[in-house]
Amino acid sequence: MGNATQAPETPQNTTTRPRIAFIGCGYLGATYAICFAELGYEVVGYDINTAKIDAFSSGTLPFHEAGLPELLKKNLESGRLRFTTDVQAVADFADVHFICVDTPQRKGEPGADLSYIEAAVTELSRHLTRKCLIVGKSTVPVGTASWVQELVDRHAPADLGVEVGWSPEFLQESNAMHDVLRPSRIVYAAQSEWASKLLKDVHRGILELAAVEDREVPVVETDLATAELVKVAANAFLSTKISFINAMADLCEVTGGDVTDLARAIGHDQRIGNKFLRAGIGFGGGCLPKDLRALTARAGDLGVGESFRFLGEIDQLNTRRRSHTVRAVAELVGRPPGPAGPDLSGVRVAYLGATFKPDTDDIRDSPALAIAQGLRRARADVVVYDPEGLDNAQTAAPELSYVKTLVEAVADADVVCAMVPWEEFRTLDPEALGRQVAERRILDGMNAFDADQWTAHGWTYRGIGR
Ligand code: UDX
Repeated sequence: MGNATQAPETPQNTTTRPRIAFIGCGYLGATYAICFAELGYEVVGYDINTAKIDAFSSGTLPFHEAGLPELLKKNLESGRLRFTTDVQAVADFADVHFICVDTPQRKGEPGADLSYIEAAVTELSRHLTRKCLIVGKSTVPVGTASWVQELVDRHAPADLGVEVGWSPEFLQESNAMHDVLRPSRIVYAAQSEWASKLLKDVHRGILELAAVEDREVPVVETDLATAELVKVAANAFLSTKISFINAMADLCEVTGGDVTDLARAIGHDQRIGNKFLRAGIGFGGGCLPKDLRALTARAGDLGVGESFRFLGEIDQLNTRRRSHTVRAVAELVGRPPGPAGPDLSGVRVAYLGATFKPDTDDIRDSPALAIAQGLRRARADVVVYDPEGLDNAQTAAPELSYVKTLVEAVADADVVCAMVPWEEFRTLDPEALGRQVAERRILDGMNAFDADQWTAHGWTYRGIGR
């Protein structure tokens, strides 16, 4: 199987290839547009943001995703891929329109904000001149597809018979290309035979690539409500797994256990599985936290809130990791928190990692960045280094100090906090690092180091739950 940074050979089979538009060119829409052009489809990416469209059109990716810039350039050159802000051109072009706009958390409320979907669907519908299929891909509360069909019926010319379908995505940032070209499964819902056939044709390229590579991709065709629910169900389940292992980490800390051994031991049971059992500073990013809250809110609206009360606890457990970690740093430097919280004035913290996970520049809901801010509120002198996330972090948290190299970050530090498992941090050498810091103290928020090895080099080591 190829990896995420490796462009696949485009399958030679030239069966029916519907023309596809991706409406909204954020992480999701842009990655899909590029990858579907790579699969041999004629694709247009549409966004209202001119700067973004100009960037894509000139071959520049406005976010960090390894391998994707090369694929963008290759497919622009092939002529199969283009980007535009011209909604009429998009409406005239595509057989299938995938809606990929953001559905962020509403300000001050747990539910999802659907205003971008409303705007995108309304605008597109008004310009449609031919029968086509509009397929939701954005993560939404269950019931949204019917509302989108109502919007289409209200704004598109009635005689066109435009239909709405749904097909959730499961792409992980830093593995996005792989997840689109070689997905773990394809899920979609259609309301007619015509739409079902079109969705089969849309996904044929993925199945052909799988056949060439001797893999199988399961296809689940289902109803609209289920297709909408699949995505939030998957993300709520993954969040639950992480919060569960973090709860076990708390128990390990008070009993002298080691949560990394515990996770390995239970993960060997195939019913449990070993993925998403890394205990640490908690989950973040643009999806897991918001999807958890949106699902809880929607279940409440639909009268089954009680069954989802536990997800509120999963969320809180996750948020508590942040104050827990600040406290762990305070204890590590011999300043256990008093009634007014920790006082870390005069403590120089080398802070490694700002993004919500490695191999991305995304800092949305980043636990690492929130903990850095918590340490700053405790008056520590926090110097942050991150391989890709510095610009975004600096905009979001200007009160912290930022440096462009690891060497600058660790110089004369009283404590090193290694928070995001970037390769550059996981491979740190305890002896070499020890010569650069003022005090050999390390908080391993990644749970990636061998504690004995660091202790042998004179470090006071603290992991999470070990
Ligand atoms: C997630 C889903 O995985 C993906 O399927 C969906 O389409 C979008 O949301 P993403 O947000 O890119 O993808 O991040 P993911 O890799 O799932 O990680 C989420 C968070 O969980 C990160 O903060 C990560 O550090 C944390 N995490 C992950 C853990 O704390 N422990 C783990 O074992 C795994």
